[in-house]
Amino acid sequence: MRRIVRNLLLTVPALLLGGMLPAPPAAIADEAAMAKEGKSLAFNRKKGNCLACHAIDDGVSPGNIGPPLVQMSSRFPNKAAMRDQIWDATKRNPGTPMPPFGRHKILSEGDIDRIAAFIWPL
Ligand code: HEC
Repeated sequence: MRRIVRNLLLTVPALLLGGMLPAPPAAIADEAAMAKEGKSLAFNRKKGNCLACHAIDDGVSPGNIGPPLVQMSSRFPNKAAMRDQIWDATKRNPGTPMPPFGRHKILSEGDIDRIAAFIWPL
């Protein structure tokens, strides 16, 4: 019994701490790999083609129909809200020229996740 209590006393704070610690290195590496793939999807003229309308990072010959994609974390409350904009921009603005990439299945859910991973830290 005493051992169970001691184990609990050790486990609970470890779990609590675990939740507060930054993501483990593997998760950070995953995010970096996703962002890299997201960049090529966003820049690919046959995939996201985001450069047609947005200046992004070091993308060449960007259009200016949409705003430059910078400081995303100060413009959206969280990454999910920003992803939602990519999934269906008509939710925020029914008249937007931005294609609803998720709703119209122009990009897969995984591709949108990757693009969001790339855009969010910009
Ligand atoms: C045909 C032009 C067009 C394309 C292509 C396009 N967008 Fe947009 N986007 C816009 C416009 C215009 C806005 C401005 C907001 C609006 O219209 O509601 C916008 C807004 C955004 C915003 C919100 C910016 C802010 O600060 O509010 C994000 C994020 C975004 N676009 C991401 C993307 C991504 C990622 C892609 C590629 C997968 C993409 N856009 C492709 C036109 C486009």
